[in-house]
Amino acid sequence: MKLYVIVPLCALITFTQQAPSRDKCVCEFTNSERPFPHDKLSAAEDNASRCNTNITPQKTLELESLLLGLERRLPRLQEDVSILEREDDGELYGVISLQVIENELLEIMQLMDKLNSTTLEHQHLTTNATKQLEDLKAEMDELETFDTMQVVKRQRENQLLKSNLTKCRDKRPTMQPSQPPYGNCPRGQFRNITGPWKFIEGEYPGSHKYGAWGRDPKPEAGKESWHWLVMLTSGNKYSNYVRLYSSLSALIVGQSTPGNVEISPSNPTDNTIQGPNVVMYRGALYYNCYNQDEVCRFNLTSKTVTNIKLPKGTRYNSKGNFCHLEKCYPFTDLDLATDESGIWVIYTTNQDFGNLVLSKLEDDEQFRLGQTWHTSVNKQGVTNTFMVCGVLYATRFIDKETEEIFYSFDTTTGVERLNLGIFIKKMYPNILSLNYSPVDQMLHAYCDSYMVSYKVLFS
Ligand SMILES: *[C@@H]1O[C@H](CO)[C@@H](O)[C@H](O)[C@H]1NC(C)=O
Ligand SMILES: *[C@@H]1O[C@H](CO)[C@@H](O)[C@H](O)[C@H]1NC(C)=O
Ligand SMILES: *[C@@H]1O[C@H](CO)[C@@H](O)[C@H](O)[C@H]1NC(C)=O
Ligand SMILES: *[C@@H]1O[C@H](CO)[C@@H](O)[C@H](O)[C@H]1NC(C)=O
Ligand SMILES: *[C@@H]1O[C@H](CO)[C@@H](O)[C@H](O)[C@H]1NC(C)=O
Ligand SMILES: *[C@@H]1O[C@H](CO)[C@@H](O)[C@H](O)[C@H]1NC(C)=O
Repeated sequence: MKLYVIVPLCALITFTQQAPSRDKCVCEFTNSERPFPHDKLSAAEDNASRCNTNITPQKTLELESLLLGLERRLPRLQEDVSILEREDDGELYGVISLQVIENELLEIMQLMDKLNSTTLEHQHLTTNATKQLEDLKAEMDELETFDTMQVVKRQRENQLLKSNLTKCRDKRPTMQPSQPPYGNCPRGQFRNITGPWKFIEGEYPGSHKYGAWGRDPKPEAGKESWHWLVMLTSGNKYSNYVRLYSSLSALIVGQSTPGNVEISPSNPTDNTIQGPNVVMYRGALYYNCYNQDEVCRFNLTSKTVTNIKLPKGTRYNSKGNFCHLEKCYPFTDLDLATDESGIWVIYTTNQDFGNLVLSKLEDDEQFRLGQTWHTSVNKQGVTNTFMVCGVLYATRFIDKETEEIFYSFDTTTGVERLNLGIFIKKMYPNILSLNYSPVDQMLHAYCDSYMVSYKVLFS
């Protein structure tokens, strides 16, 4: 209504200006509308955003992780108790088992305590949030009465109509375009990811910004549920040990058994870990070794290190890092990766002008460099890489909340794809390592000292 009045008025003004005349034309404009209370709207907006910051996905994940921990712990306790009952005749065994059970009980009690405090906190949050939301709703209802031109109402109707239309379209049978097979996957093609599924603070929440964690895809017998963690303890650059956990719940509650496995007593020195992008495979840790253009393999059983020199011209010592516009992640020259087919190293060389180069690592009889592929994507705009089913994927930084899996390179066909458009919802701004676990089809990320995982979806 206002608009109708304003347009002819403007026309009138320009007209009268162009043709100066002694007679003045005066229009009276009376506004029968109530003024819109902008201050109230912005207060409501503030309250809503405050409400949003109080309730984060991290809070629910915390609870999920704890519950998962309990879920894993309880059957084990039950099993151990029944073993104890069976062993009742021999006193020695009884005493040892009793100790094991006492330890397990202690861990469970700690989990329960943590769960209790988390639950209480959530109850308070929920009560607060419900109240706040009710207030906000009332406020918005009141504000809507100012909407005399019914803009909001019409918008809402349009939205409903739109969603009805989309639903209608989705119901129509669509022909899937036939695509050439991509990668070499028994499960189908990598399509998307969901999550974060797990969010683990670990033993040192907030400290050791750089690191990596995960599960060995080919573990030794009896170590199937073990998890490993490497934190760069010296200047975010180096580390000299791997920390082991007997299960996921042990990692969640931060109880490391059997503890640290040391590569060397000092740090950094020959053969210690340089950079965060390390992986564990068949009971050995693979990483960029200190001050070398080499991949080191540290056998956790024999405690020996074997190394492979990468091609001449390979960039190392923080010369070929993962980067985004705001920063580069130091000492990320070499990225180790695992997938269904084994173990890989992703790096850059001078002769490839800093484009990603990918090599298979063969560790069957002797540890050696296998086939090599050259890509056309430059590492300067890449924040991490990982392998799934023989396909290399690269990520880039979008903003603090989002990372995009944007690029892929199929080693079976040599086909490259850009603009994949698969988005990773981040809990912290920087992903310092990212690796795929073929055992459970999860992506494990180490983000600013926190451990996060995502589920990979195949089609
Ligand atoms: C915003 O929250 C404050 C305190 O929680 C409350 O006093 C105020 O009425 C709220 N304002 C609106 C517009 O909801
Ligand atoms: C949970 O914590 C509250 C307060 O801290 C305490 O009163 C209650 O006994 C605890 N419950 C359990 C099951 O530990
Ligand atoms: C709930 O609100 C009260 C008062 O507004 C505040 O003191 C308390 O810290 C809030 N609790 C949580 C868990 O946010
Ligand atoms: C959308 O569809 C629902 C039923 O599926 C119907 O009740 C509703 O009126 C439709 N909305 C519009 C705006 O057409
Ligand atoms: C991936 O999943 C998210 C929700 O988890 C969805 O919003 C998005 O559209 C999906 N992307 C693709 C490429 O299918
Ligand atoms: C590690 O060392 C053990 C004992 O020497 C050996 O049996 C095993 O094959 C080695 N693992 C690898 C991956 O080389």
